[in-house]
Amino acid sequence: MTDKDSLSITDNRTGKVYDLPITNGTIRAAELRQIKVHEDDFGMMAYDPAYKNTASCKSKITLIDGANGILRYRGYPIEELAEKASFLEVAYLLWYGELPTQSQLDEYVHHITYHTMVHENVREFMDAFRYDAHPMGILVGTLGALSTFYPEAKNVLDPKSREIQMIRTIAKTPTIAAFAYRHRRGLPYIYPDNDLSYAGNFLSMLFKMTEAKYTPNPVIEKALDVLFILHADHEQNCSTSAMRSVGSSRVDPYSATAAAAAALYGPLHGGANEAVVRMLQEIGDVKRIPEYVQKAKNGEFRLMGFGHRVYKNYDPRAKVIKGLAYQVFEETGKNPLIDIAVELEKIALDDEYFVSRKLYPNVDFYSGLIYQSMGLPMDIFPVLFAIGRMPGWMAQWEEMTNDEEQAIARPRQIYLGYGERHYTPIAERG
Ligand code: CMC
Repeated sequence: MTDKDSLSITDNRTGKVYDLPITNGTIRAAELRQIKVHEDDFGMMAYDPAYKNTASCKSKITLIDGANGILRYRGYPIEELAEKASFLEVAYLLWYGELPTQSQLDEYVHHITYHTMVHENVREFMDAFRYDAHPMGILVGTLGALSTFYPEAKNVLDPKSREIQMIRTIAKTPTIAAFAYRHRRGLPYIYPDNDLSYAGNFLSMLFKMTEAKYTPNPVIEKALDVLFILHADHEQNCSTSAMRSVGSSRVDPYSATAAAAAALYGPLHGGANEAVVRMLQEIGDVKRIPEYVQKAKNGEFRLMGFGHRVYKNYDPRAKVIKGLAYQVFEETGKNPLIDIAVELEKIALDDEYFVSRKLYPNVDFYSGLIYQSMGLPMDIFPVLFAIGRMPGWMAQWEEMTNDEEQAIARPRQIYLGYGERHYTPIAERG
């Protein structure tokens, strides 16, 4: 009798039947290897470009229910965390698995606060970038460079070492981000202020001018904290997969976060928030929206900030951010692009093309408008995403390192190139 929790496969080439166990709704791809035509056959593989249907790990960190627009960190709905928690509380939750007690949080916040400084050589290293270097390029380069400052970070099998690198990466990324912003503007760097909150200190490092002490606007400080929470983790997205994949070689976490940040830089991932604002500026007027929607439908253009590999419903982060945008505009004045964004959303959500493909606004659709109204230039938007995502990258890396089933990431390929052929001297090549 066949086990009910199994998958029977008949190989019509040989007539053989295989029963593969099903666990958690999946089969192990390695089980397919027993399916062979003859003994020295390599065995069957699964072909899955872009990993559209491959679970690469087991995880207890983040759940996305894409069909229902649900996102939870360690079981907690994102909406509750955005409303009630602080970013550092969420960072703690992602790494340690539980919300901290007050004393645990105080200690954690203390550690983060006291690791925000970067070595002066890091500052000098950043100075060497061209005056107009993209801040995301600076971030990628500087995160990688941190590995040379903390050589003991190579001890990736030492839990204590991993913990201190987690604290350093979360603490120092805003400092690097703010230095990158000031470098681009030719402004002197502002050192961290330990009296301020995580988001408040970041605002100070961005915007402090000649005043003795920078006082952040509490609404903007809170909004930034919420934006960091909403970006903190998103299970196996492109940059997190890069973090796990590169980290699986047991390289130090600074090199792995540089790779993750590089993955985030692309316009199909964290670069989308910047691309959305550029798109809204290009559209320029609500009257031109139908023209752009048509272009998207013709396949000539992608509506940035729309669509998602996993969400086939409204991205729950976008809902919170849309509400947040109006709160920020009360302080900063309305960003005129919001009217174009809202109208574009309305038209697209009514259109058969978008409805049938289940394309909804994603996290990047409204976030850029908030950043812009805070006075930030567009090329720093993906850097803000990276600050928020750092706890997620580190927690996923920690989970991977502790997972005995994991090994160096090394996919297979289907080779379709030439069979063996022999070198032809250059003079004889046609
Ligand atoms: N505008 C117009 N059409 C779209 C869009 C869009 N933004 N997104 C998807 N489609 C169409 C696509 O052309 C395809 O149509 P068809 O079936 O006729 O060929 C269908 O929808 C499915 O799209 P896909 O490209 O196969 O979907 P994917 O899962 O490979 O890509 C995505 C997901 C996020 C890369 C894509 O939706 C996209 O490029 N969106 C715009 C960029 C963006 O906003 N990225 C941020 C993602 S959320 C934050 C993050 O994770 O960084």
